[in-house]
Amino acid sequence: MPLVADAVESQIAYIPVSVKTLRPDQSIGIGLYLRESGAGSYFLYREKGIPLNHSDLEALQARGLSTLYAKGDEFEIYQRYLRGSLDSVMADESIPVANRFSHLNEVVRDILADSFRRGETGGTITTCHNVAHKTVDLICRKDAVASELLGVMYHDYHTFTHSANVSYYCTMLAKSLGISDRKDLHRIAVGGMLHDLGKLEIPDTILTKPGALTTAERTVIKQHPRTGFLKLCRRHELTRSQMMMVYQHHERLDGKGYPVGAVGDEIDTWAKMCAVVDVFEALTSNRPYRRALERAEAFGIMGREAGPALDKDMFECWMQAISTI
Ligand SMILES: [Fe+2]
Ligand SMILES: [Fe+2]
Repeated sequence: MPLVADAVESQIAYIPVSVKTLRPDQSIGIGLYLRESGAGSYFLYREKGIPLNHSDLEALQARGLSTLYAKGDEFEIYQRYLRGSLDSVMADESIPVANRFSHLNEVVRDILADSFRRGETGGTITTCHNVAHKTVDLICRKDAVASELLGVMYHDYHTFTHSANVSYYCTMLAKSLGISDRKDLHRIAVGGMLHDLGKLEIPDTILTKPGALTTAERTVIKQHPRTGFLKLCRRHELTRSQMMMVYQHHERLDGKGYPVGAVGDEIDTWAKMCAVVDVFEALTSNRPYRRALERAEAFGIMGREAGPALDKDMFECWMQAISTI
């Protein structure tokens, strides 16, 4: 029988653990908890040191439970387990692609969060280079089913989650548009991870503000493509198109975007791709001021922007790629 977390325990922060990252019969040395949907209480599901077996994992899947929880102070142990086992999990063909992607996604988010927090640009670029290789390898597999990949992604409003998702989406869109050169796909994946680097300079009070932004706050937000570009432009690891993904992803074809109001083909092709998936990711993720939109609603809004703001062919390609899911 699960134990009800007591009053003191209910004050502890719990962090989600994707069930798809758990291997049968492998202990990761942390207690695993279930969350009661109504009251939000946490119940001990599996004690530390006792691994889940195949039947446990199947039973969770049958109940539609894709997330367990770890206590915040044990989360680092989980992250160490994820990072330490990433290479072996990625190479293990017996593990379904979606489970491997889930494992990779947890590591990518953690690494990006850590890297963004430290704010050291060179280290961040190296980190993105390393994980982007694994991202491209997985997304380019013939047996990678986009719906399964999307099913394990998070849709919260952390800059690191958004950056990871935009990177995956950019890679998928580039592939759908016929870009097959692995080096280019890798560069695009890296550009997607870095595109909002400038947002790290924006105060959280503005980024997570639940109400309407003031004119002054909007001006601060609009600085982020330029800030990101300035952070990266002294580095030599990035190509011009990658830099333009950072600098031009909020430009519009009609010249009404920012930071400079570039028009049509003044906007780099990779920046146009980034713009399409950036809008899609933002609309289909939870925001402080609204819930995530359904895909059809998002496409409705984007459809009206395709032509004046977004590249129409790229939008249609993205819609088709996602609609086959
Ligand atoms: Fe942005
Ligand atoms: Fe973005």
